[in-house]
Formats: sequence, structure tokens, C-alpha cells
Amino acid sequence: MGNARVVFTPSGLDGVVEIGVTVLDAARRLGVDLDTVCGGRGICGHCQIVPTAGSFAKWAIDSTPLSAPGGDEVDYRAKRALQPGRRLGCVARIQGDTVIDVPPDSQVHRQVVRKHVELGELELDPLVHLYYVEVPAATLDREPTSAAADIAAALAGQHGASFTDTAVTTPLRLLGSLHPALAKADGAITVAVRDNEIAAVWPGFVEAAYGIAVDVGSTTVAAHLVDLATGEVLASRGRMNPQIRFGEDLMSRVSYVMMNPGGERELTSAVRLALNELTDELIADATIERSEVLDFVIVGNPIMHHLVLGIDPTPLGLAPFVLATADAVNGRALDIGLNLANAAIYLLPCIAGHVGADTTAAMLAEGPHRGADMQLLVDVGTNAEIVLGSRDGVWAASSPTGPAFEGAQISCGQRAAVGAIERVRIDRTTRAARVKIIGCDLWSDDPEFDAATADIEISGVCGSGIIEVMAEGYLAGVIDHDGTINGELAAEAHSPVVSDGRTFSYVLFERGDTRLTITQNDVRQIQLAKAALRAGIDLLMEHAGLSDVADIRLAGAFGAHIDPLYALVLGLVPDCPLHAVRSVGNAAGNGAVRALVSHAQRAEIELAARQVTKIETATEPRFQELFIDAMAFPHAGASSPHLQQHVTLPEKRATATATGDGRRRRRDRSSTTEVPSNV
Ligand code: FES
Repeated sequence: MGNARVVFTPSGLDGVVEIGVTVLDAARRLGVDLDTVCGGRGICGHCQIVPTAGSFAKWAIDSTPLSAPGGDEVDYRAKRALQPGRRLGCVARIQGDTVIDVPPDSQVHRQVVRKHVELGELELDPLVHLYYVEVPAATLDREPTSAAADIAAALAGQHGASFTDTAVTTPLRLLGSLHPALAKADGAITVAVRDNEIAAVWPGFVEAAYGIAVDVGSTTVAAHLVDLATGEVLASRGRMNPQIRFGEDLMSRVSYVMMNPGGERELTSAVRLALNELTDELIADATIERSEVLDFVIVGNPIMHHLVLGIDPTPLGLAPFVLATADAVNGRALDIGLNLANAAIYLLPCIAGHVGADTTAAMLAEGPHRGADMQLLVDVGTNAEIVLGSRDGVWAASSPTGPAFEGAQISCGQRAAVGAIERVRIDRTTRAARVKIIGCDLWSDDPEFDAATADIEISGVCGSGIIEVMAEGYLAGVIDHDGTINGELAAEAHSPVVSDGRTFSYVLFERGDTRLTITQNDVRQIQLAKAALRAGIDLLMEHAGLSDVADIRLAGAFGAHIDPLYALVLGLVPDCPLHAVRSVGNAAGNGAVRALVSHAQRAEIELAARQVTKIETATEPRFQELFIDAMAFPHAGASSPHLQQHVTLPEKRATATATGDGRRRRRDRSSTTEVPSNV
């Protein structure tokens, strides 16, 4: 019949095939990325291509039309509707030299663009592939074989290009389901294959398989259900981590385990129950079959990681903080009590006893190990996980910030909820504050504010509000460079600074019986938290030999709500251009989804995690010196040239501090600081 030259775009792959072969066959022979699930039966619609017409000078081709639409394609078009100009690659046949375009949605390794989960530039590299096969019925005149062998032979015969080297094997857990699946649809089955092993078998044609990516935080658990073939996030759910009833922060949960024999089993059961409930909700939301969930990726800090796996986290509560394993973990969902018979589990690698799979997931999302320029990636929870690096080297540490940034240990602190103060501005002359609360868009000095918030209890200040009141307080001269609330202001008429025993407090909000104040101890708690964070960053910068960094990414809820200006005012991060600081949302969750849909991403992070240099803040003497300097606002030693382009920083003032007997003397309060221990 002769040969024809075929060029596929956008890949540019070019070769000669026999006239009369299907476009799908031509693509397979030339190594073109063209999807198929049904193996060319005109059922799945994954093989759609766009034929071209006319002359292509670039390849010296006058494009010959493909064969006219045949029976399967007419049927498919009638049932499912093909977009104008498209053909089924498994039906359309080559009739002469031609140029054929493979649209992005027909490529197995397509780029993914997502909205509510930010995946950035990501190429799908699925771990599981679906194949529709028709297995001939067993007959007496054929040599007796087995259902597993018949399926393997059908895969090789009908999807040969994918199974040239080794026969597909069937694991024990699926052997019992082969006969029923074959019987139910007269041998027509869909087989999911992972690494040459069958992962699931369904009767008839099954179009899609799904995965779930979960970020198990110590406070919240967030889960996404994802179509593994497209990377599309079909449903997302979140809930509080039920382990909170055993302790608000990580260390109190480890203490619970230490003090209650078998406590780790209670914590494990609680989090696994939450994972199963989230799974049920996601399956219901997306109206899919439970058996179609084939992958489950989990990220979390080392203690969550161990508890999900049923490993006692006690060694992570004590120096030298030794992990049970730092490697990525592969297993079955059933192994960890998840009600997903067909799903494999994957936990990303950890880096060290304090730097876990949530950090490696955030690395995967933001890529501090990929670029030529240094990137600082910070995720602040009760610990701050800090990663600093470029493709030439990556350093990572965890720093014990404690829960102050989340509102705990602050006298009027609370979680972000309706009624919590989230924004604060302080008048530079009167020092009076105006605030914004969650649940109302008006500032408190708006004449409509009282009416608009009459039904809302203004109950406290959440994390972003705490950062802002500290930073605004410093800029307005209410709080000194060394963190002392300026008691001299209490003498002024209508001053919001009031005497509070031996120290002073700042009245942030007052209405009726409600009075929210920031105490000297509140300021001190924030100083301790921010000094821990900043000292961790400065320590990594010293190890990396850096004096500044121009790409700072704040991950997680903390990063999402903090204004970069205030981060610089407090000195949470080193001075840099304002635009260099940005929030990157739930980087750990985004990284979990990446690992769910891409084999290459898993390989990348497993390699990158092994190459990270771990810095242990608890045992580095230098950390303590850096911590002392970082107590001041913005910093005792470092200058702030970039910040000063945006705000005027107050002059440093010698501080009068009350002594135990009520007399006042001058000293630098930060010199008496105690450095917190890790976690
Ligand atoms: Fe399934 Fe063409 S390969 S319809």
C-alpha cells in the first residue's frame, strides 16, 4: 500500500508509517504521547486528534486528509459528541503524508492548570494506567490457562506497546476478583496497572481512576480528591484534627503518649478516623466509586507522619529526635486502616526529626531546590519549618516558634473565627487603634461599624491581628525597639496605654463590657516566637554564606494572612524588597497533589530530600546568639534599608523598666532573654 510521512505537533515527532494504519498506531510507533484507555475501540475518547489541511513549508508536506469517519467514530460522535474538527485517533487512518495535532487533553503527560489547588507548571506522569481489554472466554478446545494469564495476554495483545517487556502480574488480594469481573461483562474488563502489576479490575469500561492527597496538620486536616488522568481536583474537604483533644500542640500530644501507655494508639485511631470520614465525604461529593480510588498521598510533620502510620512518636519528643524512617513510605491503604481496598499509600520523605513530609511537600510545590537563585521558604505553625536553597544546595531547619502566632499564649488571642480582630491600624499621634474583625468589612471607626457588628461578639485577636498590633504598636511608638510597652504614654490624656501592675498594657479595643488589651507579656511571647523564627532563618543564611535573599515565600495559613510589610516591620524575615515577600498558600497540600499525579515528582523529591543539609537549631550554639539579636524590633543588629523606603522607623529610646520594688531603672530588656528549647 505504500508509506506516508507523518508529523505530529506540538511534539514535532516525525516518521514514516504504512498507509492505512490508524493515527493511534502511527503515534505509538513514533513514540508520540497520545492517550488511550480502551485500546483503540472507539469507546474512551481519550485519543482525540486534530487533522490538518493544506501545505506545511516547514516540513515540506501537503497534508492528505485522513480516512472518512467510520462506524465506531460515528457511534462515539452520536453518544458523546466530538468537538468540531476533532477525530478519534484510533479510527482515523493515514492515507498519505500528513500533519496531525495532538491537543493537550489527549496527551498522557499533559500540563495541568488548576485553580483551588495551585500546581504551577506540572506535567502529569501518572503512576497508574487504565486499560480496557476484551478477554476471550475460556473454552474446552483451548489449552487450560488462568484468568490472570488470560488478562495478561489480553493486555499484551491489545495494548502491546505498553507491555512489550514483562507480563503483567496479579497480586494475591485481587486474584479472587478476576473471575467475577470477567463473568459480569462477558470478558470485557478495565484493568488498572501500576509498575506492571494489576492495581484494580472492574467489569466493563471504566473511564477514570482517582487519588486523594491529604495534608495532616496538627490543627487541621485538608484533603483533595483528584482525577489521576487529568490532575483535576474534583472535591476538597477539611476538618479539625481530632487529636486536638489530646493536646493543642505537637509536644503536648507527645507528652500525652509518654504519660499514657497506649496513648499513641488513641492518637492514631483519631487521625485515621478523620481520614476515613474525609474520604467518605470526598467520594460522595464527586459521586465516584470507592473502588476507583487507587492512590492516597499523605503529608504531615514528623509527629503526624508517625501517628498516621501507627508509629510511636516518643523518640521525636526527645533529643536527638530520631525518625523511624526518613525515606518515602509506600504501602497499601488497608495497612493503615483506610477503607480503600484498591488504594496504595505514599508518604513523602522526611528530612529530619523536626522537618517532615509537609516540608518536603512544600519543597515540591515551591522548588527551592530547582532554581538558580536562592529561595527562602517558611511555613509557620507551632514550629517554623525553614528551607533555604537553590539548585546548588539546600539547607533546612525547624525552629520552636510555639503557638503565639496562632493566638495561643496571648491574653486576648484566639483562632481565626467570626468576631476575631484580624486587622489593626494605630494612629501615630493619638495611639488609638482602629480594627477590622472577621465577619465585617468595616473598620471600627466607621459610623456603621457598631450597627454592623451588633450581633457579633468581638472576642479576641487572631494571628494576623496579633502581628499587626505588634507592628503598628512599634511604628506608633507604643512598643519600643526592645519590646517594652512605653509606660511614659500612660500619663497622656485619653491614652490607650494603661498601667498594669509593674508593667503597662495597651487597650486595643473597648466596647461595652468588652475590653481587649495587649499586655507586656503578650509582646514578650511574640518576641520569643519571632526571634525563634528569625534566628532559624539567620542560622540557615549563615550556613549558606548569604547576607540577603530576594525570594521569600510564606506558606500555610500564617503566610496567607500576614502582610509582608508587617513581616518586615517585626523582623520576622530579613530585610528585603517588599515585593520579594509573598504568600504561597497551602504549599504542603499542593505538593501532596503533585506527588499524587506524578511519578517524576516523587522521584524528584526523594532525591532532593536526601541532598538537604539539616541544621539542628537545638544544638547549634550560634542559634542562641542570633536569637538574642532577633528579639528586638525589627532586629538588634541588621539594618532595614528596604523597609525604610515604606515606613519611618521610630528612633531607639532608652527604656525605663519597672523593677520588682516599683522603682524604675534603665536597661535593655532583651539582654535577659531565655532561649526556648526545641519543639
Ligand atoms: Fe479509546 Fe480511541 S483509543 S476511543
